[in-house]
This record gives sequence, C-alpha cells and structure tokens, in this order.
Amino acid sequence: MENCGLSIFCPHADEDGKPRIWLSPGTGLAQTLNPRVPYGKSSFIPREPWRQATSQETKELLCTEASDDIGHCVGIVKISSEALRPLHALRLAHAPSEAAILQMVKSEKYPPAKTILAEYLIGYRHKHGDEKIHDPIVNGPGLTTTTYDYQNKYFLGLHLDSWNNMPYDLRHQSPNRISVNLGLQDRYFLFIGIPFATVMERAGYTSPPNPQDVPTTDIIKSFLARFPDQPVVKVRVSPGEAYIAPTENIIHDGSSEGQTGPDIHFTIRGYFGFTRAVEEKRGFFSKLVNSLRR
Ligand SMILES: [Fe+2]
Repeated sequence: MENCGLSIFCPHADEDGKPRIWLSPGTGLAQTLNPRVPYGKSSFIPREPWRQATSQETKELLCTEASDDIGHCVGIVKISSEALRPLHALRLAHAPSEAAILQMVKSEKYPPAKTILAEYLIGYRHKHGDEKIHDPIVNGPGLTTTTYDYQNKYFLGLHLDSWNNMPYDLRHQSPNRISVNLGLQDRYFLFIGIPFATVMERAGYTSPPNPQDVPTTDIIKSFLARFPDQPVVKVRVSPGEAYIAPTENIIHDGSSEGQTGPDIHFTIRGYFGFTRAVEEKRGFFSKLVNSLRR
C-alpha cells in the first residue's frame, strides 16, 4: 500500500498479540454511508469493511527506527503506569456520564494528577515549543469518527487540524500532538497515509493555495472525491497507550468503534518525538535481563 513516506513507529507493536493495523477499502460521503449520524454535507468517513493489514502491508507501514521526521510519522507509545496512576485514581473512566467526567475535571484533585501526566509526556518532547495542554476530551462509544464541530453541530469526519494555521506548504513543520487513551477500552487513530503537500497536488493544485482563499475542507473534499479508493489506516491505541501524530499534516480522525463506555483522551500539542519510547523499551529489556540474572 502506498504511504508516501508516512510511517508508523510502534516499538511494542506485536507485544500483546492483538491486531494493530486495519485498512478500509476507501472513503465516502458520510451522509450517504452513515445517514443516522449528523455529519456535514461534505464530510467524508472511511468506507467499510475494515480488514486487518497483511503482514507485508504491516511491514511497509511500520518503521523499526525512530524517525526524526515528526511531520511524517505516527507513533504509538506506551505511557508509564506511574505517570497515569494519579489520573486513574480519579476513576474518570468509571463516571456515569460525560457531564460527570467533565465535572471531575473541575475538581481540585484533577490539576495535580494532570500535572504528573503532563510532565511525563513533556519527556517525549522532540524540540522546544509552546506546548498546549488540553482538558480531557470525552466522546461517546461506537463512533465511526469522533471529532464534533460544536459550532455547526455535526461530526466533522476526516479532517486536517489547523490549530497553528501554518501555510499549506509548511504543514509538515507544524506542531504535532501526543494523545493518551485514558479510557478502559481500545480506541483508534484513523489517518490517510499521504502528507498534505501530496494531497494538494493530487487534488489538482499546481501550487499550494492561500488558506484564506481555500479552506482545508475544500482540498480534502476534492482529493477524496477524486480518489474514493484511497485506504484509511486504522491504528489501535489501547488504554495506557498514546498516539503521536502530525495532525496538521495528515487527514485523520479518532474512532471509538467497538467501545461500550466513554472514550476519553488527554492531549498535548507541541513537538513530540519517539526517543523516549526507544529509551523506555531499552530500559524495560535491561530490567528484564537483570531480573532473570538474579
Ligand atoms: Fe483532529
């Protein structure tokens, strides 16, 4: 499968023996594919059925070395259970409703727990940037795509983030994000394995348009309408794992398909890399070897 240099770094990909990557046969208009869910007129979502990536496709998608090119790499990393413990002690994922979770976030117990996790996550920093810590985002279970446009009151579908609004030819240099699954069940990161520069070319733009003249939604719509068979990659992010992704450079969304409880994730935007994941994996093995020697 073509991935235009975009790869997935997941140093523990095969440790739990569960499937990690799936592919959709393409995309389609959300209002046609999923008419019962409120989507925008031009929203696109993955077309089903999903199939598990073959071993050859998995090999092509996964990179074994931690790339420095964080604008073109998606990472799945394991978060230290110690860093998560104070937040887990709040039992956010056991709250009876989204409102109850958001209420817990306002309690005085939340900030110190958040700080411990945030300080740990900053250890994934690739380079200094103005990190932005978001409050936990809570979604309902069983959603094909999770991003909701509160202004227009519909699900967005596959999209590009524009928090930093970099010019279109510099999107690969935008900050990325690290996003931890705080829930009790697997969630998924969905993306199209083509960077935005190539998406623009294939959508018919000979040079990158001005963001004020052409919104990302128009470019994405042109691209996906021209290439309906472009697969969407779905990567599992289990509880206690995080994804690191250049969401201002790749078409993406989250998914809570298959969940039965609240989908909760905690996100920091900044410039995050993969060195810490490599160091922690190395540390895990040296601890294991030492314990076997004893
Ligand atoms: Fe997004």
